[in-house]
Amino acid sequence: MKKQPILVTCGLPYTNGPCHIGHLRTYVPADFYVRYLRRTGEDVVFICGSDNHGTPIVVSAEEAKISPREMSERYHAHFAETFRRMLVNFDHFGMTDDPTNHARTQKIVRRLIENGHVYSRVIQQSYCPQCQRFLPDRYVEGLCPHCGTPARGDECDQGCGRHLEPGEIREPVCMVCKTKAELRDQEHYFFRLSNFQDFLLGYLGGLQGTLNARNYALGWVREGLRDWCITRTLDWGVRFPGRDDLVVYVWVDAPIGYISFTEEWANKTGNDWQDLWCGENRVTHFIGGDIIYHHCIFWPALLRGAGYGTPHAIVASGMVKVDDHKFSKSRGYVVWTNEDYLDRGLPADYLRYYLLSYTNHTKDLNFSWKVFSERINNELVNTLGNFVYRSLYFAHREWGGVPGIPVRPEILGRIQEALTSVNMAVHQYDFKAAVDEMMALAAYGNTYIQTNAPWKLVKTDRDAACQVVKDCLVLVNALALLFEPVLPEKSREIWAMVGNTEKIEGITLDRAAQDLPARPLPAPRPIFQKLEESFIREMDDILQKRVKEAGERSKVTETVSIEEFSRLDIRTGRVISAEPVPKSSKLLKLMVDIGTGTRQVVAGIAPFYRPEELVGKNVVIVVNLQPARIFGIESRGMILAAGDSASLLSPSKDVPPGTKIR
Ligand code: MSP
Ligand code: ZN
Repeated sequence: MKKQPILVTCGLPYTNGPCHIGHLRTYVPADFYVRYLRRTGEDVVFICGSDNHGTPIVVSAEEAKISPREMSERYHAHFAETFRRMLVNFDHFGMTDDPTNHARTQKIVRRLIENGHVYSRVIQQSYCPQCQRFLPDRYVEGLCPHCGTPARGDECDQGCGRHLEPGEIREPVCMVCKTKAELRDQEHYFFRLSNFQDFLLGYLGGLQGTLNARNYALGWVREGLRDWCITRTLDWGVRFPGRDDLVVYVWVDAPIGYISFTEEWANKTGNDWQDLWCGENRVTHFIGGDIIYHHCIFWPALLRGAGYGTPHAIVASGMVKVDDHKFSKSRGYVVWTNEDYLDRGLPADYLRYYLLSYTNHTKDLNFSWKVFSERINNELVNTLGNFVYRSLYFAHREWGGVPGIPVRPEILGRIQEALTSVNMAVHQYDFKAAVDEMMALAAYGNTYIQTNAPWKLVKTDRDAACQVVKDCLVLVNALALLFEPVLPEKSREIWAMVGNTEKIEGITLDRAAQDLPARPLPAPRPIFQKLEESFIREMDDILQKRVKEAGERSKVTETVSIEEFSRLDIRTGRVISAEPVPKSSKLLKLMVDIGTGTRQVVAGIAPFYRPEELVGKNVVIVVNLQPARIFGIESRGMILAAGDSASLLSPSKDVPPGTKIR
């Protein structure tokens, strides 16, 4: 019987923002794994799609004044394009809002209801009296009931990381209008997760993948499981069967997307999706450590309850950090895949190498431009690149091609050793160890060519030099094949430079430990370019600037008491005259009527207002600011203006000059 194909999936990206390098830690290792398995002759299907539902997408779409569908289509296309550029090649990339997933989700939910795993209950839900609506998930913010940290409605994202059920959050506040939320009764549907405790203990005990996934999940199950609210009061999503006012929670239909996308792929290619999902399957989910709970607890219980096969393996990565800070768009700790990386002409292969080799898969991975450039320059450029180029250059120069003499057997032995270690590491999901073994083979080659110095040897013993070069070329050929899952682009180039005319695509790894026939070689060129220090500094400056600006935006200045505030004498005024300050392009000199008299004020608003348009304007002015001389002109007060374009503040109703601001 034909072996069942392996189905590899990746956590589905939300369609409410661009791809950052944190996302890539799910996609790049999964793509590596798929490429590697295919190179060992395995039949693999690689599936992903975008996650279109849930409140963050509705909130972002509202802000952008477009529909959630439109928002999703935009970012769906963005992710598809980014994956193409990063050489992450899915066999299919679907959308959870497409009809296949609506249908599959409803089918599964109906089955859960029929099987007695769903019940309804009236619960107290956060409700905003101002907006007159219930506040699902991210529409509400408050304090985590477990650890007291500020949290979002469905998740304690800055504290203990726990999933929060509707109504659980303490001191709820409406995210839209910041009004204190009330609690109101509402009927919701629950999944009897508590009934799956024993099933999960058994299932998790045998779960393949990384240990972090299994062990975290076992810990949570042992703490005890509560039933899970699977409906939300929202328009956007998959309708809960029989209820027009409710959709299913996004974490129900999102993982079901894995199945729906397999269906779509199967329909496209004439396969049967059930072959991949039924019974003892080989479904392998790649995810980040932040969504272990959903994949190891909710998801297998749902599948079990609906009578589907459960996943074979869950591979969870550690989180990506930037300069040792938790990823945070709002705090500026983010590196965008396109804007900051690909668009600047940096090769996808370099980032793939860094993400795979910097640290073990289950550990957090810190990104800094400095360390990134060190790794690339020391390892890819100086070790791998140097060895490959020197070998090819010398072979081309002296022999015009691959010499016809046999390779020394110990070289093939060393390659075989590398193949075995790499294979073992990949099957333990230890991608760093696998890539380190590859690099160790390159270092072996580098030392080999360095100590035998064929460029010297050729002058005294041409045959011996020929042997060294032949050995090196066989190593180069092996490295091209071995590194392909890490460096698809560069490996293809090396593969061609070592004289292969066949495409690298269909070649299996056993070809790495074989001798090469005599054949001509094209003139080689260096494959890896060093990252210049000045460029790296520039990239780092961009990041530092982003963090600084985010800090300034979010900084709430120290509080002041009402007494301190009242020491400021702020009044309305009317501009009587305005004229440019000689020799200054920024300043205007204003005379302002402040009720009790006239004040001379110098203001930096010349780029934004012509003097004549200011005359007669009502403004707001701080009158007891210490006088200052600016460009030799005395200024007694400060006109208030907002933002970089110095938009002048003005009372919205007419009040006489000198009216106190309180
Ligand atoms: N939509 C959910 C997943 C649903 S799967 C049925 C989601 N989306 S996401 O856009 O936030 O993340 C997509 C993938 O990237 C997930 O695998 C997630 O774990 C991963 N990562 C997102 N940010 C990450 C880091 N900073 N570090 C490591 N991986 C992270 O979660
Ligand atoms: Zn918490």
